[in-house]
Amino acid sequence: MAAGNEGRLHQTLKRVLNDVKPSEAEIAAAGAVSNDIMGRLRKVVPKNVEIILAGSVARGTQISGNSDIDIFLLFPRSMDKEAMERRGMEVAKRITNRKNGESYVIKYAEHPYLQLIFRKPPIKVDIVPAYKIRDSFEMGSSVDRTQLHNEFMLGHLTTRQKDDVRLVKAFMRFHNVYGAEAEREGFSGYLCELLVHHYGSFASVLGAFSELRLPLCIDAKNRKVTNDPDAFKRFGSDFIVIDPTDPERNVAAVVSRTALARMVLASRRFLANPAAKLFYGAEFGDDRSGGKLRRIAGRMGVDAYFLTFRVPDISRDIIFQQLGRLAARLEKRLDDNSFAPALSLYNMDGGIGVIAFFVNRYRILSVARDGPEVFMKGACESFMKRHKTTYVRGHRVVAIERSKYSGPRDLLRQELKNDVPSHLKAARLSVNSVPEGVAKLVYRKYVEATTL
Ligand code: UTP
Ligand code: MN
Repeated sequence: MAAGNEGRLHQTLKRVLNDVKPSEAEIAAAGAVSNDIMGRLRKVVPKNVEIILAGSVARGTQISGNSDIDIFLLFPRSMDKEAMERRGMEVAKRITNRKNGESYVIKYAEHPYLQLIFRKPPIKVDIVPAYKIRDSFEMGSSVDRTQLHNEFMLGHLTTRQKDDVRLVKAFMRFHNVYGAEAEREGFSGYLCELLVHHYGSFASVLGAFSELRLPLCIDAKNRKVTNDPDAFKRFGSDFIVIDPTDPERNVAAVVSRTALARMVLASRRFLANPAAKLFYGAEFGDDRSGGKLRRIAGRMGVDAYFLTFRVPDISRDIIFQQLGRLAARLEKRLDDNSFAPALSLYNMDGGIGVIAFFVNRYRILSVARDGPEVFMKGACESFMKRHKTTYVRGHRVVAIERSKYSGPRDLLRQELKNDVPSHLKAARLSVNSVPEGVAKLVYRKYVEATTL
């Protein structure tokens, strides 16, 4: 860190912590809700089922306004999986008090769990059935490991480090890289805890990211960097944080390259100038997003192509995966046909999914198409026979052919007639102008992508 910045960093972190650490009252309110729910559960579950509080509320690493409560029902291993899940859901439904305005939704991770929505205060309580285990060798599913995470973190984080976890989570949240869901492919809460445990503090976590070199393999249990070549092969990744409760698991497995790279840049920026403004990241208004997008496209000299879909009210993770996969496929098709987008974005909310491509304004007549290498005699001959104009580039024959599409619009329209993922319905294509609600979704992603 630049000399003289320590004092400012300290001041800023004090101020931010004051915002992001839940107040005594908020902690007490969440405590009352979890005691209430756990008490109700205790009355209806069999004696051999243990009830524990897990997640960030149990570990004292939750951030203000985001304290979802995670309660686990631990069943004996002797019970079969289906019965365990069924019993778990049954009791969770049974204790939901509709007269109090409480409701629930069924959610799916590796297996189903129930989310109870408490009304006053408005808190979400996840009630998750799992098996009682002592170590990872007994493991049934990754959900079962949560109880082990709890024990490890409770035994290893100091009070000061818990606040540092809150700061790391908040910093990542403000820079749009917090959360393991498909929408973010970022850092999970548990990963933040392990990073603070390994590096020691908020400042040293950011210091490490700002100097990051890959590959990196952290043995979090022993607070060591191993950089074991074997691990990189075994996990198929160059950024590994080995789970102290399970040597077979890379807690950083879901962190995308983009999320990691954005964290590196954000860390450097903030440490170079530790002002509160840079901690909180970009603030922006999204009113008149349609006009903003038109000006952005105009400045870039591109057209904006919007594909909008109707999406069902199911897991965001699934929709985001489908949008991401379709966007990648279309981007490749555009690129293969000389319409490489300058920028691609996708987002969803309120039953609408959107993919946007910003593509240069050109009309295409011909494209160069790669053929086989000259050594493949038969393939090479038939390729040359099929094309009028061919030439050689490196070892390959290349043909110049008429483009099937005169512009991105033709191509995208054609692609939407082909197979579109199952949950993306009623596809529509529009250029440069979309309803304001759709424009907002795209504009938000644009700001997220282009600012740190
Ligand atoms: P949460 O997603 O609620 O995370 O998962 P959290 O640690 O409580 O963080 P925040 O403050 O709510 O954002 C609850 C627990 O489930 C396990 C972790 O042990 C986590 O603490 N978990 C969850 C994982 O191991 N991996 C995941 O991707 C999600
Ligand atoms: Mn949680």
